[in-house]
Amino acid sequence: MREDLLPPKEPPRRHLISIADLQREDVERLLATARSFERSLERELKKLPTLRGKTVVNVFYESSTRTSSSFELAAKRLSADTMSIKSSSSSVDKGESLKDTAITLGAYDPDVIVIRHPQIGAPRLVARVTEAHVVNAGDGKHQHPTQALLDLYAMREAFGRLDGLHVAIVGDVAHSRVARSLVQALRLVGADAVIVGPPALLPEALAPASHDIATIADADVVYVLRMQRERMLQGANFVPSLREYTAHWGITPERLRPGQRVMHPGPINRGVEIDARVANSA
Ligand code: CP
Repeated sequence: MREDLLPPKEPPRRHLISIADLQREDVERLLATARSFERSLERELKKLPTLRGKTVVNVFYESSTRTSSSFELAAKRLSADTMSIKSSSSSVDKGESLKDTAITLGAYDPDVIVIRHPQIGAPRLVARVTEAHVVNAGDGKHQHPTQALLDLYAMREAFGRLDGLHVAIVGDVAHSRVARSLVQALRLVGADAVIVGPPALLPEALAPASHDIATIADADVVYVLRMQRERMLQGANFVPSLREYTAHWGITPERLRPGQRVMHPGPINRGVEIDARVANSA
């Protein structure tokens, strides 16, 4: 049959698993789309029909407040049907593997599966065994791409640009998927990052590193990370004590200069990596 008489082909199935899979134009398109959705929140009727008739399944195998609630609300605001599954109240408790859980959920023919999992590579496994578009909401210490996109969005809103921005990422970078995604995302848009903290908490080769907290003075954005103890090996001591960590690396008003912006992906530990006066400030 002639090509032009055939029904239109489905666009290829796309996922959002790693910032490394994106080009700058993908990032620009996503930020522009997010901006149009944000504008719609200024209206009295906040719901858009964008995902009407689509099903979004959120599967969270790790604790989450911000990411799980924002995915659920976003899908509802875009008129999708949503289903949320937490590992603590699912058949994972009865020994079901991720693959079998994914196959079961895939049988409902969802359009999107959003997954957070402690194991690196879990979202790719879900993409292999289902027909859904898969969004990575955090896999181990590997990637958290939507957090990085959200951070770029917030930075552009604050500074009106991304090109040339200088970001200091301070704290437990070694266990941070947020930092891995953010460093890649900043490079894609012409910004740069320095990682700052005690040597044991800075991975080699991610970005230029500094063990001097005074380095943050050069940054437009001071991006603060908490100690991710849930991903540290049991018994490992990365810093002599939290008190010492706070004294050397905690972000206090005295360590900041006017015009700098402080960001934190949450959850925050007030009084540890960030002084309450900074956390409460504008
Ligand atoms: N930023 C972030 O991933 O927070 P949650 O762990 O609460 O989802």
